[in-house]
Amino acid sequence: MSKRPYVLASAAMSLDGYLDDTSEDRLLLSSPEDFARVDEVRGRVDAILVGANTIRADNPRLRSRSGPDPVKVTITASGKLDAEANFFTTGDVEKIVYAPSSVAHDLELPATVVDAGEPLDLHRVLADLSERGIERLMVEGGSAIHTMFFTEQVVDELQLVVAPFFVGEAGAPRFVGPGRFPQERMLLAETRQLGDVVLLRYLTGRAATDFTRLQEAAELAEQCPPSTTFRVGAIITDAHDTVLATGFSGETDPHDHAEEAALAKLGNDQRLAESTIYSSLEPCSSRSSRPLSCTQHILNAGIPRVVFAWREPDLFVDAQGAEQLRAAGREVVELPELAYLVRRANGHLPGVSEEPTS
Ligand SMILES: NC(=O)c1ccc[n+]([C@@H]2O[C@H](COP(=O)([O-])OP(=O)(O)OC[C@H]3O[C@@H](n4cnc5c(N)ncnc54)[C@H](OP(=O)(O)O)[C@@H]3O)[C@@H](O)[C@H]2O)c1
Ligand SMILES: [Zn+2]
Repeated sequence: MSKRPYVLASAAMSLDGYLDDTSEDRLLLSSPEDFARVDEVRGRVDAILVGANTIRADNPRLRSRSGPDPVKVTITASGKLDAEANFFTTGDVEKIVYAPSSVAHDLELPATVVDAGEPLDLHRVLADLSERGIERLMVEGGSAIHTMFFTEQVVDELQLVVAPFFVGEAGAPRFVGPGRFPQERMLLAETRQLGDVVLLRYLTGRAATDFTRLQEAAELAEQCPPSTTFRVGAIITDAHDTVLATGFSGETDPHDHAEEAALAKLGNDQRLAESTIYSSLEPCSSRSSRPLSCTQHILNAGIPRVVFAWREPDLFVDAQGAEQLRAAGREVVELPELAYLVRRANGHLPGVSEEPTS
């Protein structure tokens, strides 16, 4: 299978599941607090995608005030897009239009127009975005686009906001239309009240597995003996999410780090070549207690994937674990939403507050 970006679907809907009403004007569903949140999410993704109909209906700018503007992406079958739309005229970023071969051929727009096959192939769109360096893609709808992404099973995360009122118009666009959707229950990773709306954050597939395993790794840190340094937990799993080993700091010796404690139980295991290591804290890149850092241990063991929650604050040394692992071609996934668990286990350290800072 070809590589694709991490896909984050984002939508706001009414209590009865509508994205909009049937009037000309765009319906405001989110609260001010939620608009601010969405703005921040936009600032942390590489690109935003909306359907051509959303561009025609809402004329969105798709910019972020809190981070760098994301690349803008749209999908069209008709090619009927106005070159004067805000999508094209605002923001100093690349705009990409995916269209079926027959339409892409002579479509003239102030954007990169890409032939996406005949008929348009969503997997080809995603592979192309990946080749262009897009690692995180936010999909903001509308209805036809969400339906396609979910039925093609290419959504990793859903951020769904429910607004406290009904629309009740049969002709209004629903969050998704009819289709063959995946049947598995998604993992509910978070619920958050934002003014009078509620955010539901769901994860699927590997994103759900990563979240669950990293939570377990963070909980392992509770087994660490009392310490004056970091209390960390680590779990190593194989390609099928079977646990190969676990470890926590100070497990057999006060100098043990969680990752090396877990790795020490495995030796030269073949399964490490397709494994993931979950560590509540970013793997250390230099240490005073022993010659090899955990980053070096992970590189030597050939572990291709590293997932962690909390970037090591520069309390003891200058932390560069994530950078070194990425530079060596390893996949590094950071789940800062679980950092509060790591702070909770490390409240004994100077300057570490147990409260989430965000
Ligand atoms: N509340 C929210 O979070 C939110 C977010 C976004 C949008 N909305 C609302 O959603 C409504 C728009 O939803 P919508 O379903 O009408 O439109 P949409 O999903 O934004 O766009 C649909 C269009 O995308 C293109 N498209 C979709 N699938 C395609 C495929 N497989 N191949 C080629 N092109 C494809 C087609 O463009 P062409 O027609 O050009 O061929 C299609 O008409 C608006 O009312 C908007 O306000 C709400
Ligand atoms: Zn370490």
